[in-house]
Amino acid sequence: MKLENAVVFVTGANRGLGRAFAEAARAAGARKVYAAARDPASVDLAGAVPVALDVTDAAQVRAAAERAGDVTLLINNAGILRPAGLLDGEASIESARAELETNYFGPWRVAQAFAPALKANGGGAIVNVLSVLSWLTVPGFAPYSASKAAAWQLSNGLRNELQAQGTQVTSLHVGYMDTDMASGYDGEKSSPAEIARLTLAGVEAGQAEVLADAITQQVKQGLSAAKPPYAAA
Ligand SMILES: NC(=O)c1ccc[n+]([C@@H]2O[C@H](COP(=O)([O-])OP(=O)(O)OC[C@H]3O[C@@H](n4cnc5c(N)ncnc54)[C@H](OP(=O)(O)O)[C@@H]3O)[C@@H](O)[C@H]2O)c1
Repeated sequence: MKLENAVVFVTGANRGLGRAFAEAARAAGARKVYAAARDPASVDLAGAVPVALDVTDAAQVRAAAERAGDVTLLINNAGILRPAGLLDGEASIESARAELETNYFGPWRVAQAFAPALKANGGGAIVNVLSVLSWLTVPGFAPYSASKAAAWQLSNGLRNELQAQGTQVTSLHVGYMDTDMASGYDGEKSSPAEIARLTLAGVEAGQAEVLADAITQQVKQGLSAAKPPYAAA
């Protein structure tokens, strides 16, 4: 699909990668950008249309889909990371539930609600923001990785089920980006603006997956190795 004249809906668009997606969509020629946020007053992007949306709230998701009936590109970006070890008792299970609600059931619910409008508007596309951690985990991040692994198969399943209505599904896999989520990490981080630009180029090229940085490409390539990256620790 083309970004020129597209109508783009971005979840979690008030900061981080979501805000970068909203800006990149406008720069690529989108004619309207809905910037969804839990607090719509926190959307500061001139020209974007703020929409109240907590992706864990089914009624708000339905209302957002009704409001954005002209959508042609949905970007499921909203996500949370709650660092926890798998052996941290009930607290880590509660963190994992919250991550699954936002990172897995959230985009699933939003995709369900927006699919009819995408179909009515000619098919369009969905971007699901995943992670290199869909295929790998590191200490303290295993519950988050599990939510992004579940979201990977959600994305693959949506691609299959939406093919008949002509809706393209593009999964973004990426490592550390310079956003609030990764503020505790001091190593090299990608620019969210560059990742958003690359992803939209991937959407325009019809890509099923965007592997946005070197670490993600290495991990994906290593999945069939005798000792894959997720077993290397
Ligand atoms: N940063 C990284 O290194 C990295 C790497 C790989 C993948 N990712 C993924 O990239 C995406 C964007 O993350 P980011 O790095 O931009 O993180 P961020 O700066 O922490 O921003 C997260 C965004 O998600 C929103 N959000 C959280 N829970 C929500 C909910 N229930 N409903 C609606 N919006 C919600 C936040 O809204 P509030 O302002 O209301 O909290 C915020 O806009 C996420 O899916 C994340 O998992 C990030």
